[in-house]
Amino acid sequence: MKNIIIFGAPGSGKGTYSDEIVARYNMGHISTGDVLRAEIKGGTELGKIAQGYIDNGQLIPDELMINILAKTYDALPAGQGVIFDGFPRTIPQAEALKKMLAERKHEMGVMIELVVDEETLMARLLNRAKEQGRADDNEVTIKKRFEVYHNQTAPLAEWFEKEGIRNTFTWKGSKDLMLSEIFAYLDTLK
Ligand code: AP5
Ligand code: MG
Repeated sequence: MKNIIIFGAPGSGKGTYSDEIVARYNMGHISTGDVLRAEIKGGTELGKIAQGYIDNGQLIPDELMINILAKTYDALPAGQGVIFDGFPRTIPQAEALKKMLAERKHEMGVMIELVVDEETLMARLLNRAKEQGRADDNEVTIKKRFEVYHNQTAPLAEWFEKEGIRNTFTWKGSKDLMLSEIFAYLDTLK
């Protein structure tokens, strides 16, 4: 499978649909949020830096994030395709991803944008807070994450549009429907 960039607001289902896509097409998966949370759990230097940003719902500085991404990508088996979940989130990250892949003679592949209304997003994340207790899943931090998404990340959709790889999927109230629309599209790429 081609590389896939899965893009959307906090709680839009990037992680959930990535798991389904990985199972169906046997690809690699990089969730930058998961990478950072593992660093925090391990008490590493990077984890210590990341924690302050994550707890405040802010983005980790681009330079740091880009280095982590390249290292994580190179550690995966080549040739299977990778889902980028939560990266890129800014124009500099998107430019860096394009360059990093071009240097390896790989392509960005396709972008999948998940569009979900904010009320649904908030309900999902507050529910996950009860089940998993993720540190940034509280109402105050979730609102900051939405704001950061609108101001810094959402404008990036236009960048993908210009690259000619933007594919938008809008939530219509059913996970099965969303998934079957995404699979129907990805099946055409195999
Ligand atoms: P990250 O971990 O990427 O968090 P996020 O973008 O806020 O997104 P989430 O993981 O909360 O949601 P999701 O879209 O994966 O949805 P999910 O499938 O879990 O980033 C966290 C932080 O790390 C950032 O704030 C930043 O500080 C830092 N960071 C990460 N990447 C960075 C980068 N590139 N640059 C700088 N900083 C970076 O679904 C949500 C919940 O909904 C789940 O519990 C799910 O089970 C549930 N759910 C219920 N119904 C559905 C449904 N129908 N579809 C999907 N999910 C559903
Ligand atoms: Mg996630």
